[in-house]
Amino acid sequence: MVEKSVEERIAELRRQIHYHNYRYYVLNDPVISDHQYDLLFRELQELEAAHPELITPDSPTQRVGAEPLEAFRKVRHPVPMLSLSNAFDEAELRAWRERFLRLLPEESEPAYVVEPKIDGLAVALTYEGGRFVHGATRGNGLVGEDVTANLRTIKSLPLRIPVDPGGPPAPPLIEVRGEVYMPVAAFEELNRRQAQAGEKLFANPRNAAAGSLRQLDPRITAARPLSLFAYQIGIMEGREAASQWESLQLLRALGFPVNQDIARFDDFEAVVAYCHEWMEKRDILPYEADGVVVKIDDLATQARLGFVGREPRWAVAYKFPAREATTRLLDVQINVGRVGTLNPVAILEPVEVGGVTIQHAGLHNFDDIARKDIRIGDIVRLKRAGDVIPHVIGPVEDLRTGEERVIEPPTHCPSCGEPVVRPEGEIAIYCLNPGCPAQRVERITHYVQVMDVEGMGARTVQLFVEKGLLRDAADLYSLRREDILALEGFADKSADNLLAAIEASRDRPLQRLLTALGIRGVGWMVAGELATHFGSVDRLMAASEEELQEIEGMGPHTAASIVEWFGQERNRQFIERLRAAGVRMTEAGAPPERPQPLAGLTFVITGTLPSMSRERAKALIEEHGGKVSGSVSSKTSYLLVGDKPGGTKYNAAQKLGVPMVDEAGLLAMIGKG
Ligand code: IVH
Repeated sequence: MVEKSVEERIAELRRQIHYHNYRYYVLNDPVISDHQYDLLFRELQELEAAHPELITPDSPTQRVGAEPLEAFRKVRHPVPMLSLSNAFDEAELRAWRERFLRLLPEESEPAYVVEPKIDGLAVALTYEGGRFVHGATRGNGLVGEDVTANLRTIKSLPLRIPVDPGGPPAPPLIEVRGEVYMPVAAFEELNRRQAQAGEKLFANPRNAAAGSLRQLDPRITAARPLSLFAYQIGIMEGREAASQWESLQLLRALGFPVNQDIARFDDFEAVVAYCHEWMEKRDILPYEADGVVVKIDDLATQARLGFVGREPRWAVAYKFPAREATTRLLDVQINVGRVGTLNPVAILEPVEVGGVTIQHAGLHNFDDIARKDIRIGDIVRLKRAGDVIPHVIGPVEDLRTGEERVIEPPTHCPSCGEPVVRPEGEIAIYCLNPGCPAQRVERITHYVQVMDVEGMGARTVQLFVEKGLLRDAADLYSLRREDILALEGFADKSADNLLAAIEASRDRPLQRLLTALGIRGVGWMVAGELATHFGSVDRLMAASEEELQEIEGMGPHTAASIVEWFGQERNRQFIERLRAAGVRMTEAGAPPERPQPLAGLTFVITGTLPSMSRERAKALIEEHGGKVSGSVSSKTSYLLVGDKPGGTKYNAAQKLGVPMVDEAGLLAMIGKG
């Protein structure tokens, strides 16, 4: 016999833990510390270990996952789970309204509820007497799979309702419908872990959610960061709701996670406006939404309108333009970078993604290509999120014809034909030939950009390199007027301007020259430290690795890379030729070239900026004394936000109260507004 007090204590602990889970996972507003929570949880675990007969499936300790199953049991849904018809643009949305209005002739405009259409998988959750008793996937809409054990592991899914003891009493029976999804940040983290473990990557958050929920071993599901939004009541006994809006409010009061961005409108024009507004917002959300669902609010009107096939007449999904697309991979081109890295770029059959035609996309590296088994001729999936260049996610293996060609990592440089190397422990493949034309173009372009040779870009550099007029940046200073005039696109005036711009670049501050040399690891910030510390190229050239490492922020790799660079005869000759051409090699003792209004500030950049690339923005911030970091933390001073800010950074900044500036704000801060 168990003493009454143990049973009572267990019940009390469960009640408290359910409540604190809800505060934490549903409301994002915990009222006790993690440590206090852990103490409650441990006490419950210990009591249950001592009294296993008291363990019940709805105990919060059981969220860790039960024993694996052989197969999922099939369950017939008491009320079918329907799908939705789609509207792909405003006209189709209006047409939907016209269609149902014809069936409601005597009535005035109905009210509408608009909800985000979360991209996950639909589930039906049954609660009897306030306890979660079973849950199923949508399946084919009539018959789904019993995934109760897996659903129990989802932290925001209430195991008992009402979660808040002050909430409305639970109906004796309620079937709640909602979407199980994986937040974008959690998805990215999961894929990072999968990659590290050499496991298969998930194509998108929806596949990751589906794959995680349909695991036969609930312990695997428990380790996956799944979440839930409730959006509908399927069945309810002992209580009535007259409208969708009322249903959502009831669900929320019972402790279900209901999306924050639901809205109710009496006016259809407001619905249309809200749909447009949503499309802009999708990139800043912590979850993927592929559209919004517009529903007629009144449930009696819903019932009168009924269905066509599997689709209700009373609701429609207004779909956002897809950001994913599939197309054929025609070829893989290899670009050679400044330091000789060979970067694969996908050449694609043109395809529209999110309103933009894409012909090229990133392929991360050759390891990634091999791991994903991407082949030339494959139909590949592409993704273009708000603020990143499109990239290839992976092949659609089912569509293979057998004609596809495996992509071999290059053995020779596509530009100069020299053999390439892959240094131990590195992912990148390098061409080490300093005379490689592609690298020449990249190196000289880098030099002219950093040294601010106005009017000279990659195209001009390429022309000069092709004509054999430029082998390295030092050759710039011996270009003659007639050399330039012989090039396509140059006339007297433009040739003179170019010569003047080259001339002016002789007298740049040391920090610029050191950046322009293109030493691996020496960007603008490090170059600044080096310029201040050594004051001249000659003193830097004489420095040992140990001396270099004494400089604040200098890592051993960079120190080694600097020594290695100056150790090479051809680089020393390059320096001497620059010196002979009159390029300044010392810090003039002049005041810093630009004031440093951003000194001490750390920026994080998200979204697409209206007039400059992110690299340009980064350089601009650093030139003015600021720092740029890749992720938002409490140390971030500003989030620089572009048009379509990325979800994770934006949300983190909002959460931490990090101030945000746009491009115009940044320009104003550096006096260029
Ligand atoms: S209502 C009859 N509301 O969309 C009403 N569905 O194509 C059917 N979905 O299988 C569902 N968010 O997976 C509804 N707020 C929402 C939704 C939503 C996502 C999904 C759900 C369903 C599919 C319908």
